[in-house]
Amino acid sequence: MVFKMDNPSSTMLDITNIERGTVSIEEMKENSVILKTVNLHKTYISGPLAVQAVRGIDLEVKNGEFLAIMGPSGSGKSTFLNCLSAIDTPTMGDIFIDGQNIAALTDNQLADIRLRKIGLVFQTFQLFELLTALENVEMPMTFLKIPKKERKERALELLRMVGLEARAQHIPSELSGGEQQRIAVARALANDPPVLFLDEPTGDLDSKNSQKIMELLKSIHEKGVTLVMVTHDPEMAAYADRVINMLDGKILNEEINNKTDVNK
Ligand SMILES: Nc1ncnc2c1ncn2[C@@H]1O[C@H](COP(=O)(O)OP(=O)(O)OP(=O)(O)O)[C@@H](O)[C@H]1O
Ligand SMILES: [Mg+2]
Repeated sequence: MVFKMDNPSSTMLDITNIERGTVSIEEMKENSVILKTVNLHKTYISGPLAVQAVRGIDLEVKNGEFLAIMGPSGSGKSTFLNCLSAIDTPTMGDIFIDGQNIAALTDNQLADIRLRKIGLVFQTFQLFELLTALENVEMPMTFLKIPKKERKERALELLRMVGLEARAQHIPSELSGGEQQRIAVARALANDPPVLFLDEPTGDLDSKNSQKIMELLKSIHEKGVTLVMVTHDPEMAAYADRVINMLDGKILNEEINNKTDVNK
């Protein structure tokens, strides 16, 4: 069962007295807020047209929380997720990841945040087609110059976690969609990020494989990883602690999932 909260801002911290980029860091740590956006906007300009995809989002995500983002097609879910995960740059507003205002970072610092703090999973897996499952999972670790032996051990451990150790030497085209997505989840966790972002991770999967992915995400959440997942599927969103509904680039409302009533 869920209960509705028509005023999402009532759950948020008072942000009016925050000096950008400094005080909020302490406040975020005190409240164990790992992600935060302040008046976030993203406008796409293509020729004479401007599309206001995100129009003023204030959001806080607590450390260890599982947040689902829902809303109709075109409501700005992916745009918001891409800004929040530092893939894309907002037009206006601030994003804090683990206490850091990402607008204040140099390119190198941002690249480091992307490598260490963030895992990403997309609807269309996006694995390296010519690399084996093992090599795909190892890839993010090579960027951090982790020694080969350690890399391989960690990749095998992750493949074991997603139930695909036996497929380590297979390339993506030899694997089913569900298996490829589990490899993508393993790869996203390679550098042990505190936050995992997922954009419709079960969108291309049948219900049996979707279920497997969700069970996997549930176990990852139980290990303390913060999850932010865009989904169209209410059954998938039921696994989250909180669901925000977007409409026209804004948060329409939010629902807190009452765990005692959800069969988890
Ligand atoms: N690169 C872009 N250039 C111009 N407009 C864009 C671009 N990307 C997205 N948009 C527009 O921004 C709006 C929000 O798109 P977005 O992809 O964030 O929606 P969504 O909620 O993720 O939709 P879906 O559920 O279909 O994935 C849409 O009107 C879309 O057409
Ligand atoms: Mg989308």
